[in-house]
Amino acid sequence: MALRNIVKVGDPILSKKSRPVEKFDDRLHTLLDDMKQTMYSANGVGLAAVQVGVLRRIVVLDCGDGYTELINPEITERSGQQLEEEGCLSLPGESGVTLRPETVKLKAQDRNGKWHVYTADGLKARCFCHETDHLDGVLFTQRLAPKEMLEQEQK
Ligand code: NI
Repeated sequence: MALRNIVKVGDPILSKKSRPVEKFDDRLHTLLDDMKQTMYSANGVGLAAVQVGVLRRIVVLDCGDGYTELINPEITERSGQQLEEEGCLSLPGESGVTLRPETVKLKAQDRNGKWHVYTADGLKARCFCHETDHLDGVLFTQRLAPKEMLEQEQK
């Protein structure tokens, strides 16, 4: 395993769309192992492949309930909403309150190509949304909650 450099905001690769994974081979497994190590060493809860410069639809995450790998993830259902503070390893020192669904359903393949269905709420739902957004070139700064909503929350 090896640590990879995390791409920072300003690098145009972060706004590019990642391509689906088609080969579930040793190269993918090495990338996943490196991403896992890179995420934990940076104290992150999630990392998308584009953040280590690879434009493939791959995510690793651990929102406190165990390590998960998502290949070709796709959110299939969203419900409710949550306003919470969010940050990103590619935007060090920055944070903001985003508007995200409270609950999401997601399907994704594992490192061997098998499909799984996940349901998540709270932090994990936010994490699923944040990381799958990366695969479409979207950063959390494009999901900030409208000002009026934040004012309402404070009342
Ligand atoms: Ni991020």
